[in-house]
Formats: sequence, structure tokens, C-alpha cells
Amino acid sequence: MSQMKNFTQADVAPTYFIEFLEFLDNHRDIKRLRAECNQRMNLDRGKKIVDVGCGIGGATFPIADVVGPTGLAAGIDLSARMIEQARRRAGGRPELVFHISDAGTIPYPDGFFDGARSERLFLYLPDRLAALKEMKRVVKPGGYVCLLDTDIDSTAVYSANREMARKMTSLVAASMPNPNSGRELPALAKQADLKNIQTEVFAMATPHSFFLRAMAGSLTKASEDGIVPKAEVEGFLAEQAALDARGDFFQIWMMVLVSGTV
Ligand SMILES: C[S@@+](CC[C@H](N)C(=O)[O-])C[C@H]1O[C@@H](n2cnc3c(N)ncnc32)[C@H](O)[C@@H]1O
Repeated sequence: MSQMKNFTQADVAPTYFIEFLEFLDNHRDIKRLRAECNQRMNLDRGKKIVDVGCGIGGATFPIADVVGPTGLAAGIDLSARMIEQARRRAGGRPELVFHISDAGTIPYPDGFFDGARSERLFLYLPDRLAALKEMKRVVKPGGYVCLLDTDIDSTAVYSANREMARKMTSLVAASMPNPNSGRELPALAKQADLKNIQTEVFAMATPHSFFLRAMAGSLTKASEDGIVPKAEVEGFLAEQAALDARGDFFQIWMMVLVSGTV
């Protein structure tokens, strides 16, 4: 797991990334955030929505359930393996379409959609403003854009050693292209000239099993790369396992939701 890349290269280890996404798809708070996002896009039957960086379609499917066969829920993702899995799960439903494509080149004409959304994508993008402008391009005037992202640099982990916990969460943040993506979304939306911008912040707790998926690989890699002593990482991971064993493991993920109109 230590050689694991992040979601900029999901095809390197598709099974790992698919399991990661499936875990979150079933998380109560993620379901709630997706419903909030759909509400902000005024989702209804017959609407057309694009989900950029859709992964295996965890958020695209609930959209398809609402828009129905007269609407469209289109998922776009850079990863061929994620799209393959999303298509398999779609089972030929006409309102669900998935494309392999970069967020910077959405394969639809100007103003085609009623809304565009993305979830935990901007923290991986090299040019976030260009991607947001591309989302705006494919949405009709008055339509909606909804961005949801994790602010990885704000992750909080309970530990008896606060400094060590801060060091470890900072190391994980440093392994991501845009670790402050969540807190940067409101300014980005303004820069892209979205109208009626609304921002909301949510915190969600995740279990030790998810901590191992989301953080342990990056920490082990950092120790192998000589960025941090191996003993410190091992000590921190051992402490977290012990906390979990006695029911005291606690990790908080910060999520930021920004919506606006075109
Ligand atoms: C953390 S996953 C989130 C997936 C999905 N939005 C969800 O909520 O389940 C990030 C996704 O963004 C995709 N991705 C990364 N860079 C991309 C890019 N430049 N263009 C399109 N998709 C990209 C990855 O392949 C991955 O599926």
C-alpha cells in the first residue's frame, strides 16, 4: 500500500480506489451532503446534470434516480477503470452516461446542462480555475454549479501527542496536490464569476478502518522517502490502533460545499 498514488492516478490501483469510494458512498454524512448538493441544484425530473470527476458514480446514481429517463446524469472521469466500474453498475439505464475525459474538456456543447457538480475532485486538479470555467461553459445561463471538497489540511485526529498528530496530518496533506482545496473553494467560485455563491462547512467523523485507507499509506510512503523517521510513523499508527481497540479512535474530516449560478 505504501506505493499507492492518489486519485490523480486511480488506474494504478483500481481495486483499492474503488473500495475507498464504496466506503464513502455508504457513509451517512456523504449521503446527506450529496442530497444537499442536489437540493442546491434544484434537481427534478427531466433535468440534465454532469458529475465531473464522478469516480464509480456514487453521486451520479442518486441524481439519475431523481431526473429519471427523461433527464440525464452524465459522469466524467479521467480514470478508465473508474468509468468501467460506473458503466457496469449503470446496467444500461438510458439516463446514465459515463465518459472517460479530463475535467478540463467536458465532451458536451455550451449550455447543455441544467447543473454541474463535482465532489472531492478539486483537491487533485492542476488547474482548478480552468476546470471550474469548463463546468460553467456546459451549464445554461441561470443553471447551477455545486462543488464539494475535503479540506485535507484541516483533518483532526485524536492523540495523546498533539504535536505528533499535527505533524502526521500535515504530512498527509503535503502528499496531496491541493490540500487546502476546501477553504479555497469560495474564493475560486468568486474568481470564476459564479453568481449567488453560497458556502457551507460540514465535519464528518470517519472510523479507524478509513483512517488506515486515507492516511496510513501516505505516512508509510513519507517514512520510506526519508521525510519522517519510520519510528515516528510506526508509533503514531500503533497509538491509533490502540485507541481504536479501546473505542477511543476519533478522526474528523472537514468538507466544504460551495454552490452558485451561471
Ligand atoms: C476522490 S475521487 C471522488 C470520486 C467521486 N466524485 C465521488 O465522490 O465518489 C476523485 C476522482 O477524480 C478523478 N480525477 C482526478 N483527476 C481528474 C481530472 N483531471 N479530470 C477528471 N477526473 C479526475 C479520479 O479519477 C477520481 O475518480
